[in-house]
Amino acid sequence: MYKAKNYPSLWTITSVSNLLMKNHIKLYKGYVENTNVILNELKQKNEDLICRQTMKLRLGWEFSGMRLHEYFFGNLGKEPMIQSGELLDWLNHCFGSFNDWQEDFIETAMTRGNGWAVLCRDNHTGNLMNIWIQDHATGTLIGCQPLLVIDAWEHAYMIDYGLDRRNYIERIMNEINWAVVVDRFCKIGI
Ligand SMILES: [Fe+2]
Repeated sequence: MYKAKNYPSLWTITSVSNLLMKNHIKLYKGYVENTNVILNELKQKNEDLICRQTMKLRLGWEFSGMRLHEYFFGNLGKEPMIQSGELLDWLNHCFGSFNDWQEDFIETAMTRGNGWAVLCRDNHTGNLMNIWIQDHATGTLIGCQPLLVIDAWEHAYMIDYGLDRRNYIERIMNEINWAVVVDRFCKIGI
């Protein structure tokens, strides 16, 4: 069974309020709980076939919602981007420059609707891509490892920013723990 994780560094960031963050963590815990409920129900096999199959579809929503929040919370904190290194080389290779990558990432995060902006790496080729995951699963690329994840659902910013998602995105982009992102990148091992 899965347990909700703690992220002490969340209380050091200033781009969102503690009130918003408390609500956000509560939402995250709901995904963890519901993931466990579904996995437990599937294990018990008390429900009929149609219900079990429907729960398996629902598992994608709850599990991915849990995991995306963990990537997101885990890459918040303030640590500057490295000035050199393999990740930067790949960002330059795939996007032209760090600034070009960032511009594209923010554009991705401004996609209309609820979802996630994700910098991910194709485990097969090493290619870096900025992708939009609608809700928690639509648009996911199989075999790609998330490196940097930003929650662009309305609950991630509306308490503090109203409808001004761009302001939220631009401010939270200044509070990325790049050491975590680099660590994720290094663990892939193409
Ligand atoms: Fe969220």
